[in-house]
Amino acid sequence: MKKAVFEDFDGYREVAAAVEMSRKLGVNYSPDTDLADPYIRRLHPDRMRLRVSDVFDETSSTKTLRLVAEAPPLPPFQAGQYIALSVEVDGVRTSRPYSIASPPNQLGFYDITVRRVADGVVSNYLLDCVEPGDVLESSGPAGTFYYNPIFHKKTMVCIAGGSGITPFMSMIREVLECGLDRTIHLFYGNKSFEDIIFHETLQWLSERFERFHYYPVIEEPPDGYEGSRGLITGRLVKETIGDLEEKTYYLCGPRGMYDFCVPELEGLGVPKGRLRREAYGTPADIEKDPGWPGEVKGTDTFVVTVRGRGEFSARAGEPLLVALEKGGLAVPAVCRSGECSMCRVRLLSGKVFQPAGVLLRKSDRQFGYIHSCAAYPLENLEIAL
Ligand SMILES: Cc1cc2nc3c(=O)[nH]c(=O)nc-3n(C[C@H](O)[C@H](O)[C@H](O)COP(=O)(O)OP(=O)(O)OC[C@H]3O[C@@H](n4cnc5c(N)ncnc54)[C@H](O)[C@@H]3O)c2cc1C
Ligand code: FES
Repeated sequence: MKKAVFEDFDGYREVAAAVEMSRKLGVNYSPDTDLADPYIRRLHPDRMRLRVSDVFDETSSTKTLRLVAEAPPLPPFQAGQYIALSVEVDGVRTSRPYSIASPPNQLGFYDITVRRVADGVVSNYLLDCVEPGDVLESSGPAGTFYYNPIFHKKTMVCIAGGSGITPFMSMIREVLECGLDRTIHLFYGNKSFEDIIFHETLQWLSERFERFHYYPVIEEPPDGYEGSRGLITGRLVKETIGDLEEKTYYLCGPRGMYDFCVPELEGLGVPKGRLRREAYGTPADIEKDPGWPGEVKGTDTFVVTVRGRGEFSARAGEPLLVALEKGGLAVPAVCRSGECSMCRVRLLSGKVFQPAGVLLRKSDRQFGYIHSCAAYPLENLEIAL
């Protein structure tokens, strides 16, 4: 039965033939799988238990949680990756991704820096209810938002907005602490001066290291502020760094920032291939997505039947994953941005809205899978977990 399913996947027959051939040639290592498994689990654990060792205030709305390993030891990660913290709030188990702000060159702890989101379930819980000694569950490190020495240029132009500074903190610290041969230009946008996270540290690092350049940009600056003001425009980037060639551009921040900054950079002629951006969750208001079908309102509710597990109601304006979690059905989720495919469920009938940018695989489309973190019900649905 299992074999029949595998046989439908592209490339299955080629892999099976290669395994058969390796057996004949005596280079088949599959009997040693048990030896490799513990190392693979150590490097890529599905779940980790992390103890909060310290909590640091960063700004009035932001704290850093320092997390040490309860079990297993912390695995290595790439600067720019995140972990998905899993918590139970008001009886609902859910998770949220948080970038690791500490550098990968020390693995004694992971720092995550959390900004309060108005009415946000998990950010408020982490900021108000979590204290040193608490143990949190998380995924292993994940994500593809990191420097790739083969494809990326050695000069990095990093554009951060608000809490989007966190993956860059990890990258900056790694580059400077390890003396790596890279130059970083950081444009960091915030609404007010008080909102800037890590300002003193960034200022100090930019004064100490010649290959790190820090440009805070404030939307509503205080009287007498002499730095850059407004939004991070293409013009500001060009005037500040001059030559735009031989650089890779990295963006991380709220969706509104992408909507503004990506066309600005493209307007400067920065090709798509040199523009890397971190997903930062699904849109706050999906009804504003250009592809949203106007005849459905975000408040419309539909019945979702989960084969063999019962049924519940779901709002059109809320990701199906959230409705599943509220219904007490655990679906593994890591990125919550439609990218990692951990939250896939099979759509048996009905229609969902999936915004542009959801990374459905060819096999997802072929077998009717949707990414529930970025799928919004438009009709009554039947799904299988
Ligand atoms: C890869 C990745 C890395 C991330 N790293 C960090 C990090 O280092 N630090 C950090 O503070 N956050 C980070 N986030 C965002 C974080 O995962 C949560 O989305 C955020 O904490 C809000 O969760 P919540 O449960 O409080 O809000 P929710 O209850 O999920 O949402 C409440 C409302 O706010 C909207 N909303 C959700 N997130 C945001 C947001 N970021 N800004 C504005 N409105 C929002 C929602 O659409 C909803 O309308 C990251 C997200 C991703 C995808
Ligand atoms: S949790 Fe990653 S695609 Fe949904």
